[in-house]
Amino acid sequence: MAVTTGSSGGFVLAFLAAFGAGARVAVAAPGYPAYRNILKAFDIECVPVPVGPASRWQLTAAVLDTVPGPLDGVVVASPSNPTGSMLSPREVADLAVWCETRRVRLISDEIYHGITYGAAAASAAGLAPHAVVVNSFSKYYAMTGWRLGWLVLPPDLVRAVECLQQNLFISPPTLSQIAAAAVFDCIPELDARVAAYRTNRDILLEELPKAGFARLAPSDGAFYLYADVADLTDDSPAFCRRMLAETGVAVTPGTDFDPFGGGRTLRFSFAGAEADMVEAAARLRNWRS
Ligand SMILES: Cc1ncc(COP(=O)(O)O)c(C=O)c1O
Repeated sequence: MAVTTGSSGGFVLAFLAAFGAGARVAVAAPGYPAYRNILKAFDIECVPVPVGPASRWQLTAAVLDTVPGPLDGVVVASPSNPTGSMLSPREVADLAVWCETRRVRLISDEIYHGITYGAAAASAAGLAPHAVVVNSFSKYYAMTGWRLGWLVLPPDLVRAVECLQQNLFISPPTLSQIAAAAVFDCIPELDARVAAYRTNRDILLEELPKAGFARLAPSDGAFYLYADVADLTDDSPAFCRRMLAETGVAVTPGTDFDPFGGGRTLRFSFAGAEADMVEAAARLRNWRS
């Protein structure tokens, strides 16, 4: 286990410890853009793998079977940003076996654990002995600006991460660590926040289809709804700019997450106030009518 400067610091350590320059690492497309940017900065080849409704927008073992060429690593996120979809415990276990048998390093981004709307998310920590688990205080614990996270490491990577950490970051700030110790006394407040996300999600699931955004990925967790808007645009950045200018509602274009189909998708975030969800949905309904 290592304490890191947010999960971003965790990714820097994990990628440097686990992969050499020229390694090939698969990531889901759509997926969190920092994976490919950090990998690229280290001369590690990022292999974006298209995922969609057939695998609930996740990089499953069956999807990995279709990737041409050898891989050195796989990064998964469950719940995912931008789709909110999750891997089942069975799918995590299958991924673990897929990776073990091929000596592929599994990196599991579990930053949205605790923010789920049905079953709890399964951790790779108990299912994949050689996986690296990345987590942080930024989401469920709502401490984004404190830059604090942690890695659960397999024994063979502990020393390498210690050496990298001592040179790159030394340690995360002491004040953040003290604050994080106190956050464990705030669980009822944090769970109330998750309940508020659920209310926001329910509002948008009800209202967005009325505004013409009906094809939504299953938002099992996190605080996002990922919409297929192929019937409206193939230029999501222009569409989002126009939406912002004409309604004041800000959404993220899919191109941030998906180099293939991102022009035809959008990500709505529902991390804000309930009243803002109601107002945004009303404005979008008016805009589209
Ligand atoms: C999937 C995912 N991983 C990691 C991060 C980065 O989090 P941190 O603040 O811990 O660096 C984010 C932030 O949005 C994210 O969505």
